[in-house]
Amino acid sequence: MPYMINHKRRQFLHYSAVGVAFAAFPGVLTATSGKISNSPTPGFNPDVEIEFTARKAHIAIKSSGPNTQVQKYYARLVKGPAHTLQQLKGNYLGPVLNLVKGQKVRIFFTNSLNEASIIHWHGLHVPQASDGHPMYSIKPGERYVYEFEVKNRAGTSFYHSHAHELTAEQVYQGLAGLITVTDDEEQALDLPGGDLDVPLVIQDRTFNERNQLRYVQGMHSRMLGFLGDTILVNGKVDAEFAVKSRAYRFRALNGSNSRIYKLGWDDGTPLTAIGTDACLLERPETRPYIMLAPGERVDLWLDFSGRKVGSELILYSLPFSGAMPPMYERMQGQHGKGMRGGMGMMSGALPQGAKIAIATFKVTEAVSDSPALPTKLAAYSRLTDKNVDNADNPLPVAISMKPMAPQLNGKSFAMDRVADFEKVALGSIKKIRIFHDHGPMQGGAGVMAGGMGGMGGMGGMGGMGGMGGMGPGMMMGMAHPIHLHGQQYQVWSRKPTGMAGAGYDTVKDGFIDSGWKDTVLVMPGEEIEIIKPFEDYKGLFLYHCHNLEHEDLGMMRQFYVS
Ligand code: C2O
Ligand code: CU
Ligand code: CU
Repeated sequence: MPYMINHKRRQFLHYSAVGVAFAAFPGVLTATSGKISNSPTPGFNPDVEIEFTARKAHIAIKSSGPNTQVQKYYARLVKGPAHTLQQLKGNYLGPVLNLVKGQKVRIFFTNSLNEASIIHWHGLHVPQASDGHPMYSIKPGERYVYEFEVKNRAGTSFYHSHAHELTAEQVYQGLAGLITVTDDEEQALDLPGGDLDVPLVIQDRTFNERNQLRYVQGMHSRMLGFLGDTILVNGKVDAEFAVKSRAYRFRALNGSNSRIYKLGWDDGTPLTAIGTDACLLERPETRPYIMLAPGERVDLWLDFSGRKVGSELILYSLPFSGAMPPMYERMQGQHGKGMRGGMGMMSGALPQGAKIAIATFKVTEAVSDSPALPTKLAAYSRLTDKNVDNADNPLPVAISMKPMAPQLNGKSFAMDRVADFEKVALGSIKKIRIFHDHGPMQGGAGVMAGGMGGMGGMGGMGGMGGMGGMGPGMMMGMAHPIHLHGQQYQVWSRKPTGMAGAGYDTVKDGFIDSGWKDTVLVMPGEEIEIIKPFEDYKGLFLYHCHNLEHEDLGMMRQFYVS
């Protein structure tokens, strides 16, 4: 039975109060009646059927010492091609889910945790009832049934917990996994496959001395987002890949709660991408470095041909700045990177933007030939102003950081609230403008002072005296990865406004905006316009910050497609 039942009933009163007929929310209604999604639909004949369970486990994440207690997705293939589930042995990540466009998929999800949970298929375009909206969170012992057709083209997506206000912590504890989708178009390209097609799930974590995960709490840490001191790649520390001297496809996913990566090689060799988020690009894109924010994916073409056996390459997150509030960066600058006390509480021992080694690639075998990088990848139809019905009146996604409340469009998430402008006609294509809105903050020094009061109590914060002179924007301006559920979108424009800070130059060449996207990093002072189709499915589709601490703090809203 859906978890939110009583809450829903109460909320219906609100609908009438604000003049929105609740009959307009069929999905919500069915959820309330408990009829949806706890039993398979007769007549839906799945090509793939999987049983997922989330439960507590103890896994060797670190190479020595005790196992780490985690929350983990286990899955069993009931029906479908054997490679649909790629089990990662002894790993805290869920298995890789390999899907094919056109497949009909049924997934049973049993919650064997001791708290509510629900799975979201980030990047897949599925009906509301199969999208893992937090209103469908199920209680311990309950089962949820997902049914959908794979409409996505070939690309990389991922699944993760979307439990109401528990997303950040459950993902942190391990409730995530990679999804690949393939289709005929991709197969015809003959890209590196099999062992040459490798996941690169990047996460940061903090362990205590007994190898147990520590998730930093406290409002200020959550406002800045969790930043760990240890990098995990595919669920392991100190990742090393033995490679042949040829080209590979590495599917990089930023599965971190709030850390942003600036992927690049130390020696300035550029990086080549063949896909972003859930789709291949039209043609490969080569950049000096590639920014990867939480929730984003980039399929990298890593070519080791010509490298000698024994050579080693290290993929880094290169140093950058400008993603955090200037006060944070100023404190980091003053106190150095290794500082643990004082601001360390807020920042983690590895600050946002620090240079970090991600993975080492060791060439262990020479091979004589390697495929050439294709010049053309996926076919694209470009969406323009001509496709949208609101070219001059884009839907707003206004980012604001009130003290203790990161918000979108001036509001926090409410399970079944939809503003008038969030109602979208099925089949329409909309321009959406994502921007920072410091409006309410400008005259809000009093509010800010209230917010800052708590910080004085943190202690050890020499230099805080200077904060009185800083404007609210300076405190709160930070980068936010904005994710929209449902169909992917195209980026129409990305513009720094006058507010973009000095750090912007350290990131600006790393955005790949030419493909289909579902998550975009919006730097402070940036404004991004996207064009998004709302096709196929009616219902409630979330949009939120994929800094998962922000999401759980309510930096999430939803469109209602009807
Ligand atoms: Cu990956 Cu609603 O999120
Ligand atoms: Cu999503
Ligand atoms: Cu955010």
